[in-house]
Amino acid sequence: MSARPDRHQESTLGENSLAVHGGNDAGEPGGPIRTPITMANSYALPDDPSGISWSGTDVPLYTRNSGVNQLGLQRKLAALEHAEDAVVLASGVAALHAVFFTLLRTGDHVVVADQGYEAVYKLFAELLPQKYGIEATFVDTSDLDAVRAAIRPETRLIHTEVVANPTTRVADVAALATIAHEAGALLSVDSTFTPPPLARPLDHGADLVVHSLTKYINGHGDAMGGSVAGSRELIQRIKAEAMVDVGGVISPFNAWLILRGSVTLPLRIRQHVATAAEVARFLEADPRVAFVAYPGLSSHPQHADAARLLPEGAGAMIAFAVDGDPDTQNRFVAALRLITSAVSLGHDESLIVHVGTGGPRVAFYPEPFRRLGHLRFSVGLEDAADLIADLAQALDATFGPR
Ligand SMILES: Cc1ncc(COP(=O)(O)O)c(C=O)c1O
Repeated sequence: MSARPDRHQESTLGENSLAVHGGNDAGEPGGPIRTPITMANSYALPDDPSGISWSGTDVPLYTRNSGVNQLGLQRKLAALEHAEDAVVLASGVAALHAVFFTLLRTGDHVVVADQGYEAVYKLFAELLPQKYGIEATFVDTSDLDAVRAAIRPETRLIHTEVVANPTTRVADVAALATIAHEAGALLSVDSTFTPPPLARPLDHGADLVVHSLTKYINGHGDAMGGSVAGSRELIQRIKAEAMVDVGGVISPFNAWLILRGSVTLPLRIRQHVATAAEVARFLEADPRVAFVAYPGLSSHPQHADAARLLPEGAGAMIAFAVDGDPDTQNRFVAALRLITSAVSLGHDESLIVHVGTGGPRVAFYPEPFRRLGHLRFSVGLEDAADLIADLAQALDATFGPR
C-alpha cells in the first residue's frame, strides 16, 4: 500500500507538508517516489475512445490539454491557494492574458491598478482597447473611493496586484472584492510578490489569483510558468478557452521543475522576508540612500495596511534609489559584487535592476520614483550580513566612505 498522502488527504495537510507532498503522484511499490518528467505529447487512448472529450483537460490526453506534470502542479497550486482548481500556463503573462481573454469581450470595461506589471499596462492601455474594443480605467487601487468612482455599468473586472510591481503599494483585497461583487464584476489579483503563505487572495473574496511561477513559486530562476487559481467553473472556462484553444501551455519539464522548486516555498519565503526586513532597515538608515519603499517599514505609506493584510510579512521586494542621477544609480549597481544585476525576481539569488524615469507608467508612480527612478531589489536567500556588506561596499565605492 502507498505511504504517500492521496488526493483527499492532501486537502488536510499543513502548508509545509503540502509544499513537500502536494501534486506528487507516486508511491507504488518498486516505483519512483517522485512523479517523473513525462516528455510525451500524447497519452494512449482506450480501445473505444468514443467517450473521450477531445477538448477535455482533466485526464492525460494531449499535452496542450493535460499531461501528468501539469496536472500534478495544478493540483498542488490549487491546494496552496485554497482554490477549487488551477491552470498552469507557459508564463505569468500567458496566465494574465488567459484571464483577460476568457472573461472579457468587446464593449466591456475593466478597472486596472495604475501601478502594476508592465505587460498588464500595455495590454489595457493599447492592445485590448485597440484590437478588441475593451476599455480600461487605470486607478489607484489603494484608494477605494477612486475604485468605486471608476466603476461603470459595463465594468466586468477589477484587476490589481497585492503588492505592486514595482512601487510596493499594497491593495486591500477584501475591500476590492466587495466593490467588484456589488458592481456585478469579478476581482482578479496578481499575487506574484506575495505567494503562499504570505497571501491567499481567494480567502479574502478574490475570484481569481494569478502568479508568475517564474518567480518565488519555482524560486530557482531556471523555469518559466504562470498559473491562475479559483473556482472550478472559472478555471474550467480558462482551460477550455485560453489553454486548449489558444495554446500557451507549459512544457512538462518546466511543470516538473516548478513542482520541485515549490517544495521549499514556505521555508524560502520565511527566509526571504526575514532577510528583506534587515536589508530594508540597513538601507533606510544610510543617508546616501534617497528613499526606500518596503511595506514592512513603518515609513511605508501602507505599512499599517500591510501589517493587517499580510501578517506573515510583506514579501521581499524592495524599491529604493541612491542619492543621485541615473549615472550614479548605474555606478552603484555596477559596484555590487554579490547582488546580480538582472531582471526577474523571487529567485534564490538576489537580483537588482535599475529602472529609470522613462516610459508611460512612471506618471502613475509616487514622487520619489518619478524624479529619481528606482532600483528594484529582489532580496534573495544569501545571508543578510553578506547582502548588507555588499550594499555597504557599493555605497562606499559610489559615494566614498561615510
Ligand atoms: C507581478 C508580475 N506579474 C506577472 C509577471 C509576468 O510573469 P512572466 O515573466 O512569468 O511572464 C511578472 C514578471 O515580472 C510580475 O512581476
